[in-house]
Amino acid sequence: MSTDQTAPPVPSAPPAGTRPLAAVILAAGRGTRMKSDLHKVLHPIAGRPMLAHLLATVAGIGARVRVVVVGSGRDQVEAAVAGQGVSVAVQEPQLGTGHAVQQAAAALAGFDGDVLILYGDVPLVSGDTMRAMIARLQAADAPAVVVLGFRPDDALHYGRVIAADGIVDRIVEYKDADAAERAVGLCNSGLMAVRSDALWDLLARVGHDNAAGEYYLTDIVALSGHAAVVETAADEVAGINSRAELAAVEAGWQARRRGQAMADGASLVAPDTVWFAHDTVVGRDVTIEPNVVFGPGATVADGVTIRAFSHISGATIGAGAEVGPYARLRPGAVIGAGAKVGNFVEIKKAVLGAGAKVSHLSYIGDADVGTQANIGAGTITCNYDGYNKARTVIGAGAFVGSNSALVAPVTIGDGAIVGAGSVVTRDVAADALVVARGRQEAHPGWAARFRARMAKR
Ligand code: UD1
Ligand code: CA
Repeated sequence: MSTDQTAPPVPSAPPAGTRPLAAVILAAGRGTRMKSDLHKVLHPIAGRPMLAHLLATVAGIGARVRVVVVGSGRDQVEAAVAGQGVSVAVQEPQLGTGHAVQQAAAALAGFDGDVLILYGDVPLVSGDTMRAMIARLQAADAPAVVVLGFRPDDALHYGRVIAADGIVDRIVEYKDADAAERAVGLCNSGLMAVRSDALWDLLARVGHDNAAGEYYLTDIVALSGHAAVVETAADEVAGINSRAELAAVEAGWQARRRGQAMADGASLVAPDTVWFAHDTVVGRDVTIEPNVVFGPGATVADGVTIRAFSHISGATIGAGAEVGPYARLRPGAVIGAGAKVGNFVEIKKAVLGAGAKVSHLSYIGDADVGTQANIGAGTITCNYDGYNKARTVIGAGAFVGSNSALVAPVTIGDGAIVGAGSVVTRDVAADALVVARGRQEAHPGWAARFRARMAKR
């Protein structure tokens, strides 16, 4: 089994370097181009808010202090990080990236170590890249600042990193750059690692005498007298300013995840049509047919086949099981080894034992289905009375005839048989037959007599 490289939400790992680590995530920009009531950093990539990606990554490399700097939309961000030990600092008004970092000073009071400065709208920077920045900061020549640079195909309006042999002289914002500086291909991603014993003094010396009239974080590079640059791939530091860029970053993430699933031994018949969530776990010799969508919390064991057009979230699928086509597995679905969930079947908060079969057109919710049980087409667990949910228990080897309604709470014993079309409201003993439907009445010749009578009218 494999999973994507996401880290636990709570700091647990030792810090990436030898010094304590803190992360400051800048998110006070207005994000107007998203045209959204939702804070930009709470828009999801792979089913998880951008901000949560970053918080998990920095936790994974051992950041013991995490601070998010916000402007408007503070309440949304505070609610999103509540209970995770993350500080929220407010920058009002927004006077530039240098000013934004200063707002984290109170949350970092007494902190002595390395500070990673990240952008909330640059969500997919890897832990390895962050580690490389910290390793450079802790190298023997002891720079005060490490800048993360990249070389995009088109340098656009990024700040330019003026450097030689990996040592940075200065960063020049595009607006302030002359023609020779604009011709430089090494761009500033905006992300930095800075020693805390230098950071606050440097920021205090930053002015706002520039084309934007802002306090530029980038000015600490020249002020430090000793800054280094670490380079990374352009797609890793792609920022998100619009819905189109959000979709583009999502597409890149999905492409990498599909590649990983295949490298780990899953067959994706039409890879571009399969959508993973940030935490989807996929085993070996899994076959995923076209147009399968995973929401968060799905785990797929070895040898599973997921047929086309299935939607799976919060579900665990055991080895060798078959799901779909057109199956919907909702949170709490646990599909046993070798079990079968067929077309137009919805399963929610239900455990299907090994080898159990629900092959057609059924709803199984709040239920326990025993091993090798066979649930006929159109079976419904009636789990909700409009106020409360109740459980249905179906024993091992039980056989539920087609189009049965099992009115919960109700138990069908091991090996019992439920006649097709039954509405089962009381428990059924093990190995019993229950038929709970109108008794069939036959009237020989009635139809012919009826037609003859009608013909005379
Ligand atoms: C910044 C860098 C530039 C770099 C570019 C990369 C500076 C001065 N310039 O430019 O060198 O190439 O990023 O995208 O740092 N933010 C705040 N408060 C503020 C201003 C910004 O929190 O007052 C946050 C934003 O939410 C965003 C990040 O900082 O996450 C960058 O802000 P943005 O305005 O996009 O920076 P640029 O001017 O593009
Ligand atoms: Ca920007």
